[in-house]
Amino acid sequence: MPWYYAVAERDHDIQDPTSAEKIRHLGRLLRLGPGSRVLDVACGKAGPALVLAEEFGCSILGVERAPEFVAAARERIEDAGLSDRIEIVEGDARAFPLDPESWDAALCLGASFVFDDLEGTLAALAPAVRPGGHVAVGEPYWREWPLPREVEDEGWVPMKETVARIESAGLALVGLVAASDDDWDRYESLHWSALEEWLAENPVDPDAIAIRERHEQARDDYLSFRRRLLGWAIFAGRKS
Ligand SMILES: C[S@@+](CC[C@H](N)C(=O)[O-])C[C@H]1O[C@@H](n2cnc3c(N)ncnc32)[C@H](O)[C@@H]1O
Repeated sequence: MPWYYAVAERDHDIQDPTSAEKIRHLGRLLRLGPGSRVLDVACGKAGPALVLAEEFGCSILGVERAPEFVAAARERIEDAGLSDRIEIVEGDARAFPLDPESWDAALCLGASFVFDDLEGTLAALAPAVRPGGHVAVGEPYWREWPLPREVEDEGWVPMKETVARIESAGLALVGLVAASDDDWDRYESLHWSALEEWLAENPVDPDAIAIRERHEQARDDYLSFRRRLLGWAIFAGRKS
């Protein structure tokens, strides 16, 4: 059986509800330049890394666990002629050694679960950047609070509380790069089109029923409440 996300994110350039333009904006907020060393935790297919290395000439080390995404990332880096600037390490980012104050910027976009949650991610990454360096975390937040009784919070909090967690980690907020409805719709629609095409091409696959159920549940949740209630943003913090 193919891994669900390998099918669902087949067509995503960036595997989060954002855009290349917003990632370039993030790079400016992080003060990236040709001398910068950037760690990208759970880098996926290297979508953000490709944009940042191309625009700012920085060096990026991406850590990614899924072999499918590692292979795609390495191919894209080679095709873009950026092998001298981006390196991908395959493995569990949680186990990746983080030497103190060794990075100019550390990113974790859409993957704070690697360190359990946002607080765990900040506790892991803030010590790894130099004073004056930056941590950027892409994280969901609830747009409305309290939530309707039938909606579970899933560990996410409103934006103000998310920012308070970043400040508690010793980071001053220097940037907020939020997903628009268009970013969300594009991100979700790319899942739907890839999954529908895969299901049409693999109707008798033993996992087709399970994949359809998961796909339809995710789509229905998005349409019925997530699109309205769930935000996503990259929060950029500067370490003093
Ligand atoms: C939502 S995607 C985001 C990918 C990338 N940051 C981007 O914005 O395009 C989450 C990524 O986390 C990766 N991942 C999940 N657990 C991981 C772990 N323990 N170590 C490294 N990568 C992990 C997944 O394979 C997936 O590529």
